[in-house]
Amino acid sequence: MDNPSDFLEFAIKIAKEAGHIQMSYFGNISSLEKKSTNIDLVTNADIESEKYIINQIRTTYPNHSILSEEAGNLSTDSEYLWVIDPLDGTTNFAHNLPIFAVSIGLVKKGVKTLCGVVYNPAADKCFYAEESKGAFLDGKIIKCTSSNTLSDSLLVTGFPYLHDKRYDISFEIFKEFYDKTRGMRRLGSASLDLCFVAMGRFDGYYEYELKAWDICAGSLIANEAGAKVTDWDNQKLPHDGRRILATNGLIHKEMVEILTQEKYNIYYSEQSG
Ligand code: IPD
Ligand code: CA
Ligand code: CA
Repeated sequence: MDNPSDFLEFAIKIAKEAGHIQMSYFGNISSLEKKSTNIDLVTNADIESEKYIINQIRTTYPNHSILSEEAGNLSTDSEYLWVIDPLDGTTNFAHNLPIFAVSIGLVKKGVKTLCGVVYNPAADKCFYAEESKGAFLDGKIIKCTSSNTLSDSLLVTGFPYLHDKRYDISFEIFKEFYDKTRGMRRLGSASLDLCFVAMGRFDGYYEYELKAWDICAGSLIANEAGAKVTDWDNQKLPHDGRRILATNGLIHKEMVEILTQEKYNIYYSEQSG
């Protein structure tokens, strides 16, 4: 019988090792390529980190499926799927900003995330969670905040590489939240944004046009820390990352009211799938 705690222990071990690989390139990048757009970057650290993680999974769990940002979908007929962002926060990494992470989640039967790890190697901080067992930062249990109004809250968000109509409107949403909160931050690593909601640095986080690998581990960690993690309209979280709202639960309704206004319905149209 596969034991979820063994999966978590394994995921922590390989996330930390991948983080060490990233640190060997940090401040010293020898290759920087562009992907979908001029600002969508990939470095040798993304590639080497991913190679290492995939090799380890292939060796330890040869039948498991893998979905990883650079390598894509390496599927088998296993009910287990490892969802990996080998380096979340590549733009920060490329500019020597220490806000980036390795993100590894394990999903069973396409629906249930069993465990997740987000490791920020520059700070040597490891966030992790196992389903129904709470969320931890380096062995200490973490919990989200207890602010109960948006006006007392600090939020974090992010913006996609693709600059379309929704991108333009996202600044109206940003302004609306900026006017109604203590402030807004944009840190550049979705997985860490979720962990920072989990540990109480932020009261809420929202973003759109992410991918499964950006949110898989972080959304479990936030959930296990007591956060509410849903779609923008308070429905079930789309696991493909097309929209995400994670809050301490207490400000969820206020954020949903803003995000579901008629003027923002472009985010729920076909295009946003
Ligand atoms: C990006 C980061 C960023 C988010 C972007 C993501 P990457 O991931 O998570 O915070 O706003 O949309 O694509 O490309 O650095 O792995
Ligand atoms: Ca990412
Ligand atoms: Ca990435």
